[in-house]
Amino acid sequence: MKKIIAIYPGSFDPVTNGHLDLIQRGSKLFDELIVAISRNPEKGTALFELEERKEMLGAMTKDWSNVSVDTFEGLLVNYVVSKNANVVLRGIRAVSDYEFELQMALMNRKLDQRVETIFMLPAEKYSYLSSRIVREVAYLGGSLAGFVPELVEQKLRQKVEAKKK
Ligand code: PNS
Repeated sequence: MKKIIAIYPGSFDPVTNGHLDLIQRGSKLFDELIVAISRNPEKGTALFELEERKEMLGAMTKDWSNVSVDTFEGLLVNYVVSKNANVVLRGIRAVSDYEFELQMALMNRKLDQRVETIFMLPAEKYSYLSSRIVREVAYLGGSLAGFVPELVEQKLRQKVEAKKK
């Protein structure tokens, strides 16, 4: 039977419990799941360096044997093909995500017809969670309990302190 290798791409700036929920669900469905951090979208504006994001994701996914963490640059479809993968995994939290996700999935299909996008739903309790909102709460000193793993919370607090100096 054909092995299904899925790529879960994103900025992960930083990884949230919503991302981890999706990774766990994906790891049960696919033979291999590669979490791929993009270098492109927020170039120069990201809070965490690429290596920091990779380190946090690596630490948080180390117990899932079929999950690995990587980075990519350029078109996602080229990266997918280079990894012999067949699927792009994306999470849809609410209807508001759908428009952008549809656009991206259809563009990726147009760019390379071999690439299929599969959408999964994270647990409802994470449906309002995003890296952007987590960064904002961290900046403003709010509690991050339940939103990100403890290690990520510590790193966020350090980052925010360093930025304020
Ligand atoms: O976590 P994000 O920011 O929603 O992830 C967006 C991401 C990285 C998946 C998307 O921007 C992407 O695939 N970038 C790679 C560039 C690309 O292939 N663009 C064309 C298809 S939209």
